[in-house]
Amino acid sequence: VIGIVGGTGPEGIGLAVRWAVAHETIGIGSRSPERAMEAAHRIRCLVPGAAIEAADNLEIVGRATVIVVAIPFGALESTLAPVATALRRKLVISVVAAVEWVDGRPKPIAATEGSVALKVQALLPGARVTSGFHTLSAELLADPGVELNEDCLVCGDDTEDRRTVMNLARKIQGVRAISGGRLENSFYPEVLVGLLATINRIHKVHSGLRLTGLPL
Ligand SMILES: NC(=O)c1ccc[n+]([C@@H]2O[C@H](COP(=O)([O-])OP(=O)(O)OC[C@H]3O[C@@H](n4cnc5c(N)ncnc54)[C@H](OP(=O)(O)O)[C@@H]3O)[C@@H](O)[C@H]2O)c1
Repeated sequence: VIGIVGGTGPEGIGLAVRWAVAHETIGIGSRSPERAMEAAHRIRCLVPGAAIEAADNLEIVGRATVIVVAIPFGALESTLAPVATALRRKLVISVVAAVEWVDGRPKPIAATEGSVALKVQALLPGARVTSGFHTLSAELLADPGVELNEDCLVCGDDTEDRRTVMNLARKIQGVRAISGGRLENSFYPEVLVGLLATINRIHKVHSGLRLTGLPL
């Protein structure tokens, strides 16, 4: 099971839709089991036959082998503290952007740890934290009819864990997974979300990331 803490938000739902299309089993986590069930229902409507479980965040973390953290930056401490023990030794993927919204506009957040993913690691000392999926638009992910054609940067200190997350990214059709190296490098895609959001507003699009010069 791929568990998603905060799986009721647009990014969690979008990732769940794409992994459901790829026949993965998804666990939608929430502070409220009712909201989790509503989100699961929405995903099943978008992907008929999808294998979706729904429960509160702690229960989903217990059932899952890989856990995506898809909550706002400001909710990290309060959400992760109660699930930290259950996340020990598990593979965690932070999709949390280093961006806050002020009057509808993105403002970069400087996490004192160096990147949001490093902050997640500090809050979850027993977990194997990686990061990825920051530059994938929630709106495009949630529409299984949209063909994606973009890159996903994955960061993490453990090569094998990074490879596992890159393989999960490749399960989303049209996504090319690229290693971004160590977890501290997660800072770059985390702040890029603010630039993409600005481009989206100016050009009325859902932009993504495509790197050139790679032999892939
Ligand atoms: N949206 C995008 O296109 C996008 C793209 C790239 C990265 N991201 C990142 O992905 C993460 C999730 O994005 P999103 O747009 O899905 O965010 P969101 O809708 O603001 O939040 C996701 C979920 O987190 C929980 N949550 C919200 N506020 C909370 C709080 N104060 N305390 C505890 N839990 C709270 C809620 O779940 P419950 O109420 O059900 O518990 C909510 O449904 C963010 O860090 C964002 O930076 C988003």
